[in-house]
Amino acid sequence: DQPIDANPEARSAAAQKVKIGFYFATWWALNVVFNIYNKKVLNAFPYPWLTSTLSLATGSLMMLISWATRIAEAPKTDFDFWKALFPVAVAHTIGHVAATVSMSKVAVSFTHIIKSGEPAFSVLVSRFLLGETFPMPVYLSLVPIIGGCALAAVTELNFNMIGFMGAMISNLAFVFRNIFSKRGMKGKSVSGMNYYACLSIMSLLILTPFAIAVEGPQMWAAGWEKALSDIGPNIIWWVAAQSVFYHLYNQVSYMSLDEISPLTFSIGNTMKRISVIVSSIIIFHTPVQPVNILGAAIAVLGTFLYSQAKQ
Ligand code: 3PG
Repeated sequence: DQPIDANPEARSAAAQKVKIGFYFATWWALNVVFNIYNKKVLNAFPYPWLTSTLSLATGSLMMLISWATRIAEAPKTDFDFWKALFPVAVAHTIGHVAATVSMSKVAVSFTHIIKSGEPAFSVLVSRFLLGETFPMPVYLSLVPIIGGCALAAVTELNFNMIGFMGAMISNLAFVFRNIFSKRGMKGKSVSGMNYYACLSIMSLLILTPFAIAVEGPQMWAAGWEKALSDIGPNIIWWVAAQSVFYHLYNQVSYMSLDEISPLTFSIGNTMKRISVIVSSIIIFHTPVQPVNILGAAIAVLGTFLYSQAKQ
C-alpha cells in the first residue's frame, strides 16, 4: 500500500479540483437566487437602469466596508491599475445594464438562452478583431450555438426586440470584459475578489449619470410608490437581495477566474445558465413550447462541442 501522501502533486491537483468545483457550485447557486429576485423586482418596478446601478452600489459599499473594517485587505493600486481597469469597467457596465434591460422586457429564461450564445461572440471577436484563428471544429461548433439560439428566439412566445438586443449586446460586451480582465489580472498582485470590487466601484461611477439621464429620480419615485403599494414593504428586501446576490455571484466568479482559463470560465458560465433557465421557468411558470426548449438544448450542446473543439 502506498502512504496517503505518497504523491503530493496528485493530492494538490485533486484539492484544486475540489476548490474549483466548490467555487462553481457556489457561483451557480448565488446566480440563480440573483436572477429570481432581480426578475421579481423588475416585474414590480421596471427600472433596469436603477436596479443595475443599485447592484453595483451595494457591492461597492460591501467592499468598502470590508476594507475599512479589515475583513478583507484593501488592494494596493496605482494609477496604471485604474487606467487598465477602465475599458473592463466600460464593458462590464454595458454588459450588465444591457442584460438587466433585456430581463425587464422578456422572460429570464429567454435572456439566458440568448446569453448561452456568448462563446460564439467570443470566437467572432477573437477572429475578426484580434485576428486569432481557430481550428475548423471550433467554427463548426458555432453552427449549433447560433442555430439553437436562433431557433429558440423565433419560437419564443413573448419575443421582444429590446429584450433580444439587450441580451445580444450583453454577450458582446462581456466577451470584451473577459478578455480585458484576464489580461489585467495576469501578473498583478490584486486578487480576483479585490479586482471585482474595483470593477464595481468604477462601473458604478460610469453608470450613475447614464441611469439618471435615461430614467431619473422622477420616474423612480413614481414607480417606487406603485411598487410599494402593489407589493408592500417586501419589495425593499427583494431589491436588497438582488443587489447583494449580484455582488456575491460576481465576486465568486472572479475568484474562480483567478484559478482557471477564460475558456473554462465561459464553459462554467454556460452551464450556469442551464440552472438559471430551468429554475426560472419553474418559478415564474414561463410558458414554453417544446421547440423553444429544443433550440436552447441545441445551443447549450453547441457550447459543449465548442469547449471540446477548443481543447
Ligand atoms: C447582469 O445583470 O450583469 C447579468 O445578469 C449578468 O449576466 P451573467 O453574469 O449571467 O452573464
